[in-house]
Amino acid sequence: MDFNTYIKQSKKRCEEEYRLEPTEIPTLQIELTEAEMEERKQTFEHALPVIQHFMEKVLYYMDGTPIIVATTDEEGYVIHKFGDESMMEMIHAFGIHNGVRFREKVAGTNSISLSLLHDESIGLVGKDHYHEALHGIACYSAPFHYGEDGRISGTISIMTTVEYESQFHLGLLSSAVDSIERELRLQEKNNKLEILNQIMINSTPIGMIMTDQEGRITDYNAALEKLVEYSMKERLAKGDTKTYVIKPYVDHVLWTGEKLENKEVTLSFDDGEREKIFQLDVLPIYDGDEVIGAFAQLRDMTNYYELQEKLIESEKLSTLGKFSAGLAHEIRNPLTSIIGLTQLLKETNAQNKYLEIITSELDRMKNLVNQFVLLGKPSSVQPAPCNLHDLLEETIELMKSSARLQDVSITFESNQKDLVMTIDEAKIKQAFINFIKNAFESMENGGEVQVRLVHHPGSNKVEVTIEDEGEGMDPDEVSNIGTLFYTSKENGLGMGLSISLEIIKAHHGTVDFNSEKGRGTKVELCFPV
Ligand SMILES: Nc1ncnc2c1ncn2[C@@H]1O[C@H](COP(=O)(O)OP(=O)(O)OP(=O)(O)O)[C@@H](O)[C@H]1O
Ligand SMILES: [Mg+2]
Repeated sequence: MDFNTYIKQSKKRCEEEYRLEPTEIPTLQIELTEAEMEERKQTFEHALPVIQHFMEKVLYYMDGTPIIVATTDEEGYVIHKFGDESMMEMIHAFGIHNGVRFREKVAGTNSISLSLLHDESIGLVGKDHYHEALHGIACYSAPFHYGEDGRISGTISIMTTVEYESQFHLGLLSSAVDSIERELRLQEKNNKLEILNQIMINSTPIGMIMTDQEGRITDYNAALEKLVEYSMKERLAKGDTKTYVIKPYVDHVLWTGEKLENKEVTLSFDDGEREKIFQLDVLPIYDGDEVIGAFAQLRDMTNYYELQEKLIESEKLSTLGKFSAGLAHEIRNPLTSIIGLTQLLKETNAQNKYLEIITSELDRMKNLVNQFVLLGKPSSVQPAPCNLHDLLEETIELMKSSARLQDVSITFESNQKDLVMTIDEAKIKQAFINFIKNAFESMENGGEVQVRLVHHPGSNKVEVTIEDEGEGMDPDEVSNIGTLFYTSKENGLGMGLSISLEIIKAHHGTVDFNSEKGRGTKVELCFPV
């Protein structure tokens, strides 16, 4: 549209509607309280630095021209101005301060009101202004928009004296405002992205860590603190930026610049009482060609693995195991009657030697059946305080008679007579018996079994070892250990170790087999204290 038409219409309004006197000096008044002014300024908090930045460039191009840059909001209130000092004095003389409102009704024809009215860039030079007092200045105003609705957010104006008037000023201002709008929109978008990022980072169950080039933690998310169960904030505040268990992976990524995926790391808690298994990915962060840090994410797989283990376990049991356990249970009842009746028979036929054999065979059967039944039951431990030394001594005493029968000897060494642990005494005893029985059975031609209890004062672990001089196992055989029904013995069931390992596990203990074919086996049991 043609400025001249806008100006003409405006002047007509000033004369006929507002009845302004062109010879009078327009007196703009501050209509806002300081608080109201502050509030308006707040909405420009992000825009003002951008406006200042781009408009300073304009001033730089127009070097030598005395210029004021003024920003108003969408209602024409002056929010901010800066620029040439002598020009600033001049406009102050007209009452143009921050907080005054440019209204045609008071200020007469002016570029700010017109550009707000028509949503266009407008330049007014000298006599284009209604008031004679303003005939010495040239003003150029451009509306700017950056909200999503496309509404006018305000205006940016440059003011100078008529001597410096130029047709280029308006073009320069318009292109500066273009840049400002683009920058503000970009900032807005970034801001939204940033917020979105924050929401995503803080609501995911995945633990995240960022490190710098040296592998020091610089950032982490809320989920990470939950996973590792300590306050990262406190650690970082103390200057501890180490990555601990994941350090080897982070270092690898920082050195090679290649990502690592699905690595498994284990973290222990409560002095080794509890463990969590994490799946870890580490990715390098690049700036151009240079690795400037690493990004690690941790997923808690503990539940998943526990579930899987239970599944495998129950599958194992649900096939042959459950079937035999059920069968064993059914056999046990008639067996009990048979044993009872045989006992009665024995009382009346004391001299019948077959009955002796029947009884002992029935006893053997009862033991086997009992083991089967036990296997079918989910192993629940009933822990109570128990002196481990005494328990071992008692168990060994119990085993001595069968040792003599098999022509083997058994010794016991202990450095800790007073260690009281909370364990299921009957179950642990059963496990010890199974290990010792295996040791006896491995020494067909006799030999010695050494049982040792080692606990160092202050240590949170106690070790029990059972060492034999038997036939031993090759690595293949060792790898089969604990597989239900795996046995190398003619009369073996392959259940002893399955049961024992289960018991040790239920006590959070570990078992290690050191075995050499032809030399013997050392079973190392380790329990947390
Ligand atoms: N101390 C050991 N020396 C050599 N081999 C061993 C020893 N302990 C276990 N094994 C091997 O592991 C197998 C499995 O042992 P496990 O106690 O589970 O079953 P088993 O002794 O064969 O039968 P049972 O159910 O009666 O105990 C054994 O058959 C044997 O081959
Ligand atoms: Mg056995």
